[in-house]
Amino acid sequence: MNAIVKFPSLAELNAGTPAGLELEHLSPTIGTVVHGIDLTKPLSDEMFGFLHRLLMDRQVIFFRDQDISLEQHLEVCRRWGSLETIPFLQHHPDYPELLHIKRDKDNKSYENIWHHDVTWRTEPSFGSMLRAVSVPDIGGDTMFSDMYAAYEGLPEPIKRACEGLEAVHSINVSLGVYADADKLHEMSKRFPPATHPVIRVHPETGRKLIFVNRAHTSYIKGLRRDDSRYLLDYLCDQAAKPEYQCRFRWVANSIAFWDNRSCQHYAVADYFPKPREMYRVTIAGDRPC
Ligand SMILES: [Fe+2]
Repeated sequence: MNAIVKFPSLAELNAGTPAGLELEHLSPTIGTVVHGIDLTKPLSDEMFGFLHRLLMDRQVIFFRDQDISLEQHLEVCRRWGSLETIPFLQHHPDYPELLHIKRDKDNKSYENIWHHDVTWRTEPSFGSMLRAVSVPDIGGDTMFSDMYAAYEGLPEPIKRACEGLEAVHSINVSLGVYADADKLHEMSKRFPPATHPVIRVHPETGRKLIFVNRAHTSYIKGLRRDDSRYLLDYLCDQAAKPEYQCRFRWVANSIAFWDNRSCQHYAVADYFPKPREMYRVTIAGDRPC
């Protein structure tokens, strides 16, 4: 297990910011907008190192006014690792790693549920970088929830009860809302359920966090069905507490880049029938422990 990394205070973070950058923190523990950066230019090693530490500390970082090409979007994400494709979502015809997320009155969002992405994978993603192409004048925000703070806020007896428990995550839990039975059968054969610890230790920060979510977690192993349901509901409900959250208001060319291992997100579906269009690139992750 990694040693626990001491999280810097906001004052320490601000003091350590490279010249030319300015940080706008959206809540005490999660979410920071980085002003003064141009992602059309390659990141220096120093800037990459700063942004990576900031991402680990703040769990989600944001940028404004980034009129980057699709290739630049892919390129900046490759600095963080290999890219992954999501098998059943629409991607760009020339770039399989680029998800095209386009919602309108005929194709409504189903991401208005608290979740870590793709925890039905054996190795759920490291994180994703989402860029807004066009957004409604008002509405369509994305919310993020700090699963370290959610864990730390649990009563000690609940923390002890969760120690050593594992949960099963299934693609059917999320796909069931919009795929037909044949598609479900095919996808669940390709991606059998994955088992992950209920309380995960983050591989870089060494901190513990709640790693079950409403969208993908089926049940907790070793418990009777009712007991699994009660505990799972209780743990999943923690993500919905405003004290653990930040909320991001999009405009075109805004970017959100989240650490999928530590935080959950929720796409607020309050803007239909207006359209909302995004591109997302996802970086491959590791096996939770
Ligand atoms: Fe998501």
